[in-house]
Amino acid sequence: METKKMPREMTGAELKSMLKSSIDFKSLGGMKSPELTLPTEKKQWWRDAKIGMFVHWGLYSILGRGEWVRFNEKIPDEEYTRLAEQFTGKKCDMDEWTQLAVDMGAKYMVMVARHHDGFSLWDSPGSYQGFTTANTGAHRDFIKEYTEACRRKNLRVGIYYSNMDWRFPGYFDPKGKPESAQAMKRQAYNQVEELMSRYGKVDILWYDGSWLNHSGSDTTAAWLWEPVALNKMARQYNPELLINPRSGWEGDFYCDEGSHEISGKIIPVPWEKDMCLCSGTSWGWMADDPVSDLDWLIRMLADVITRDGNLLLNVAPDGQGAIPEKVKTRVRELGSWVRENAESIYGTRGGPVEPVDKVYGTTFRDNRIYLHIQDRNAFAGLTVPLTEYTVTGCTYRGQKVDYTQDAQGLRVRLPEGIKGEPDTIIRLETGRPVQIAEDAEIYFTGK
Ligand code: GLC
Repeated sequence: METKKMPREMTGAELKSMLKSSIDFKSLGGMKSPELTLPTEKKQWWRDAKIGMFVHWGLYSILGRGEWVRFNEKIPDEEYTRLAEQFTGKKCDMDEWTQLAVDMGAKYMVMVARHHDGFSLWDSPGSYQGFTTANTGAHRDFIKEYTEACRRKNLRVGIYYSNMDWRFPGYFDPKGKPESAQAMKRQAYNQVEELMSRYGKVDILWYDGSWLNHSGSDTTAAWLWEPVALNKMARQYNPELLINPRSGWEGDFYCDEGSHEISGKIIPVPWEKDMCLCSGTSWGWMADDPVSDLDWLIRMLADVITRDGNLLLNVAPDGQGAIPEKVKTRVRELGSWVRENAESIYGTRGGPVEPVDKVYGTTFRDNRIYLHIQDRNAFAGLTVPLTEYTVTGCTYRGQKVDYTQDAQGLRVRLPEGIKGEPDTIIRLETGRPVQIAEDAEIYFTGK
């Protein structure tokens, strides 16, 4: 008798153990809403895109001590508010930012529209106390400039929005100060509506800060935010909008945040690794923040795509809106590697062979499988357990490579003399298109 695999729920801890993975999905356990579920085919562009560029820029960038500086250093309201007059965006050229995203190989961007400090980077009537770039030093609407610049470069448009705002006492004491908490919620609804309705088609809504009083996760304060209603409103304006899981609703994809390495099995659901191009000590600009090593970034990208994820890489412009030279250089170096190896990245899915941590992994597309090899010595002794597909061709940078295939799998003799490559890519031709079960019916719940 044929048995049908039933969808089942899995906790974050169980998932981690099943996948023997270092991934740590944030904000699991969000509310469910069948009406909000986006059909699989509407997410394909995002899964094909693979790389996005994240931008954290706000008043905190002037101080250069991280985007949490207002809270961490208990900066008095007046003092922090005054910074807005200095925030002129003198060096902010959105065409330069979007060009840098293109140079990185990104197909989409996500820009912080308002972080936890409450300062809005657009002309926002819904902003509490009118704390916006339109009313202060810059007298500009950076979200308008950003969305237009993205479209000029054919980049999909993503907007980051923090529901919570430290300026409201109701954030710190939502039950004791319910009016203030409600005012903060009203601001979120009004501002999300502005962002979703005034700037043309938005592709990604990337929430953060849906927790309250520094406790719980993004999903524990759904009683306040009512994320299903909030997201239904957002989808009225953008019916195909992809929404991350951090509003308290489960979202369209999962997020692993931070610079920890990725190991373990393929995760056959839409997921995104979010991390900084620099040290990761802060998402906002810091002077002298060291940029990550190029080879390390390339390996991270390979680890993510061979496990079927996307990489959202953060760059931080300084207080004037200039992106540091060393950041630009690293972005372009990464991008040139991506361009050279584009066919093994864009439009692929992770698999069909499970990765071996730090040694190799695979991506595939149509009749091709790409071996991404990080450790050529370790790989040399291995048999790739590829038996379902007959390999009909094997190349490295267009040159034929020797291989044998039998009932155990595939052995590839790597060409001599390859040096210094963080990811050696071998292209395999298969007799028929590779297919794996996409969107395996696993639902991840709380930790
Ligand atoms: C965390 C931080 C926030 C940052 C975000 C990026 O939630 O609190 O500052 O913007 O991660 O994913």
